[in-house]
Amino acid sequence: MSISIKNPAEIKKMRVAGRLAAEVLEVVAPHIKPGVTTGELDRICHNHIVKVQRAIPAPLHYKGYPKSICTSINQQVCHGVPGKKTLKRGDILNIDVTIIKNGYHGDTSRMFIVGEPSVLAQRLVAVTREAMFLGIDKIRPGATLGDVGLAIQKHVESYRFSVVREYCGHGIGRQFHEEPQILHYGIPKNPQSSIVLRAGMCFTVEPIVNSGSRYVKTLPDGWTVVTKDRGLSAQWEHTILVTNDGHEVLTLSTEEREQQSPLAQAS
Ligand code: MF3
Ligand code: CO
Ligand code: CO
Repeated sequence: MSISIKNPAEIKKMRVAGRLAAEVLEVVAPHIKPGVTTGELDRICHNHIVKVQRAIPAPLHYKGYPKSICTSINQQVCHGVPGKKTLKRGDILNIDVTIIKNGYHGDTSRMFIVGEPSVLAQRLVAVTREAMFLGIDKIRPGATLGDVGLAIQKHVESYRFSVVREYCGHGIGRQFHEEPQILHYGIPKNPQSSIVLRAGMCFTVEPIVNSGSRYVKTLPDGWTVVTKDRGLSAQWEHTILVTNDGHEVLTLSTEEREQQSPLAQAS
């Protein structure tokens, strides 16, 4: 398999899929408050995707995954499985949504803070989002994947946080996970890092950042990944298209779209 270059018809479908994935996060957002279960959040997303969007929740049955979204709380790194767990004040929560519409995938995740966060939690969430956008800012034809990963890693480590290495971004399109892998750190002379970006490529940028050490382990449920040291973990994710003169973020929220005036982008 090689890196697919999307044609204009495919790009249109990627835009639609991206928009729908972003919409799901906006639909679930008002329900995120103390006392709600992650299972309830899954049900809200599932119903919206299936009944309103007439789309498919990509995680459901993917490699045996049992739910339609991933909900990862506090020390959970990723792939938290929605269930009976209730949210409480001070929790930080990642919701990861992937939908399939007209055969194409849109994949996005963001952090939510329940009630009043600790200073550390707030900083971790903000730095992770900044790191994602600093990586995304590097994306244009001729840049390398190493440029993206290094920008993310530098920002994260300047705060003495750590980048999780076991999970990475990925090409996306007809398949959920396509080539190439997008590392969120730089390795000099690594073949992955020297891949040169071309217009028409689509991939995700989805750094996972730990407040303590970068090491992780998977719980006995076979899905939920947690930090080894039980420190906090945060993740943000967007699906990106490489354009002739830079990039287009296909999964922007309404708020982010309003901020993305040409002026804001130039700064
Ligand atoms: N949405 C995740 C990603 O960003 C993948 C979740 S796979 C699942 O790549 F099986 F856990 F749902
Ligand atoms: Co992804
Ligand atoms: Co995702």
